[in-house]
Amino acid sequence: MAHIYRLVYNPFVYRLVYSPFVMKRLAKYAFPLLTRYHTRYHANDDVVFLNFGYEEDPPMGIPLAASDEPHRFPIQLYQRTATQVDLSGKRVLEIGCGHGGGASYLMRTLQPASYTGLDLNPAGIAFCRKRHNLDGLEFVQGDAENLPFGNQSFDAVINIESSHCYPSFPRFLAEVARVLRPGGHFLYTDLRPQVRIAEWEAALADAPMRLVSRADIETQVLRGMNKSSESTPELDVVEHRVPAYLHGVAREATASQGSGLYRAVQSGDFSYRMYCFAKD
Ligand SMILES: C[S@@+](CC[C@H](N)C(=O)[O-])C[C@H]1O[C@@H](n2cnc3c(N)ncnc32)[C@H](O)[C@@H]1O
Repeated sequence: MAHIYRLVYNPFVYRLVYSPFVMKRLAKYAFPLLTRYHTRYHANDDVVFLNFGYEEDPPMGIPLAASDEPHRFPIQLYQRTATQVDLSGKRVLEIGCGHGGGASYLMRTLQPASYTGLDLNPAGIAFCRKRHNLDGLEFVQGDAENLPFGNQSFDAVINIESSHCYPSFPRFLAEVARVLRPGGHFLYTDLRPQVRIAEWEAALADAPMRLVSRADIETQVLRGMNKSSESTPELDVVEHRVPAYLHGVAREATASQGSGLYRAVQSGDFSYRMYCFAKD
């Protein structure tokens, strides 16, 4: 079985998988399946993050509550992306909030006036509403390419490891610019395979927003993946609660050390970046 996984999860296949055609279907079917699997079989579900993680050298070492500590590396990706600007007292929208761990953490630590988490996955939104109850935090089901919000309704938009799933990335950028007030910020991080970098950069250059900063963060993400491979609730699910014959698939899904996706980022086949844009 391991050989089959090695064959399927190689960098070439990842280039195909990360095409808009496949990603659209993955987003529609795979994430709801994942949520249903967790909520059905794991009553005390702790899979509240769905990103690869992030760590710097020297380590960021941000102080965390005991309940957040198991999620340190995915949290640090949120922390670095979101704190590119001051979010206190701001109206924040997160597009592609997944299982809401980042929304909850940022709401508790950065004191925005309000935080709206949006995701395409209805099961994920139902999970978030049950799992994360905080004043000022709400979750909405919706599509990144057709946001159910009025013009200029947010001061900041956050988007983490989600935009590679959208069939029309330019349409998403136009929507972000529409819902941001003038002076608002788009705080963004994601990855692309090398074959899609040119179109990614062209869309970002055409976006109706001004580039404030850009950072290549493959090294930090690989370090985060390494650290997450040591121990996280997500990995615990793989090791102890997923049937053995599905370990290969599950390890790919968590992008653990040694997975095809890990190797693809390591070999430079994928670029992982963090951006800040402003709407003038
Ligand atoms: C890899 S997960 C990342 C989730 C979260 N940002 C995190 O870091 O834990 C990608 C998320 O994007 C969501 N997504 C995919 N396509 C979407 C779309 N068109 N509109 C809104 N969300 C979408 C998926 O349902 C999934 O929850």
